Amino acid sequence: MALQGRRLVLALSGGVACYKSADLVRLLVKAGASVRVVMSESAERFITAVTMQALSGQPVVTSPWDARESNNMAHINLTRGVDAIVIAPASADCIAALAQGRADDFISLTCLARPWGVGEQPCPLLLAPAMNREMWSHPATRRNVAQVVADGAVLLGPAHGDQACGEIGDGRMLEAEELFEEIVAFFEPKLLQGQRVLITAGPTFEAIDPVRGITNLSSGKMGFALARAAREAGAEVTLVAGPVALDTPRGVRRIDVRSAVQMHEAVMSVASSQDVFIATAAVADWRPALAAEHKLKKDGSGRCPALNFVENPDILASVARLPKPPYCVGFAAESEKLAEHARTKRERKGVPLLVANLGPATFGRDDNALLLVDEQGERALPEEGGRADKLLLARLLVREIAQRLTPTRT
Ligand code: C5P
Repeated sequence: MALQGRRLVLALSGGVACYKSADLVRLLVKAGASVRVVMSESAERFITAVTMQALSGQPVVTSPWDARESNNMAHINLTRGVDAIVIAPASADCIAALAQGRADDFISLTCLARPWGVGEQPCPLLLAPAMNREMWSHPATRRNVAQVVADGAVLLGPAHGDQACGEIGDGRMLEAEELFEEIVAFFEPKLLQGQRVLITAGPTFEAIDPVRGITNLSSGKMGFALARAAREAGAEVTLVAGPVALDTPRGVRRIDVRSAVQMHEAVMSVASSQDVFIATAAVADWRPALAAEHKLKKDGSGRCPALNFVENPDILASVARLPKPPYCVGFAAESEKLAEHARTKRERKGVPLLVANLGPATFGRDDNALLLVDEQGERALPEEGGRADKLLLARLLVREIAQRLTPTRT
């Protein structure tokens, strides 16, 4: 589980977005975290402590005068040994109080009392701002946000969009699922910090006529999981995606393409500025030599159209042949003799690392099994054999790549 063993404080200041925090606490607990919820007086006007207690499975603290703690010092007890404090929603007032180092409500008191860098292991502070767009863009809020960030707080969002007040703009709190992803990402080791990573994903679609084409069963899930894992590891990620029905991982730049030729163009336009290139896309080897301008029609004679094919550009090989190529990782979807085909392919493509998997056992599925082939030999992921979730495999593969980039760092 992504947050197994993590201890978190989730603080709610007042705002309509409090309803999202109920979902967030569920996601955090489900992922293995132990969550102590803290609520301001105004948060209690939006959602009850009963709900948050039921969902977190732990008592909720709403006042600095809460006498249930034997030493009556909840602000100290709650912040010792925790992995992070997350304030969601973080209202304009709450951020102002943090910027000033105030301690007159339980949330600001708790944040001020948390270990922040002297002596004990610092306790990170993550803020999910939620407020009207005018409040968010007000110079006073700008100053306060700049101050809390300078003091070490990490901002999660806010998002742009419809606001509860009916206006549209910046200041909307991220959705529970997005906040959850950001919190998980925060704890991932930053093995690719500052590296530029380019990834291709999904199938390509090669047109026969304006309404038909040739494609394959690739879902794009492995490539999208890799994009998420690389971004979690601190990389600046560009994802070139064929036609797939998947949401873009947070913080990832996505370029949508359809055909292999378009994918080749998109990749080559940025490849030389990248540190790593991971080719997970199942690119069509051939395309119809000429796509018909209009829909091909049956003429009743029983005759079928004859298609002539031409070979598509090999994107991975083209990148590997650049004068200063990024570190190239290829994928091979095979139906048999994994290791043998992967070794041959690695050499043919001229790449340092080739990841083999069984096509029929990966396309469209959420789990997979990988075989890594490099100059040193072969190794299975997961190491213990069997199959694993694609996101987990992606994180392991990111670790493997980071190790190969700077062998001493990991
Ligand atoms: O040649 P084959 O398709 O088996 O090679 C698979 C690897 O090469 C994958 O990494 C795939 O993304 C990449 N590839 C490519 N361009 C092609 C064909 C495959 O980048 N035209």
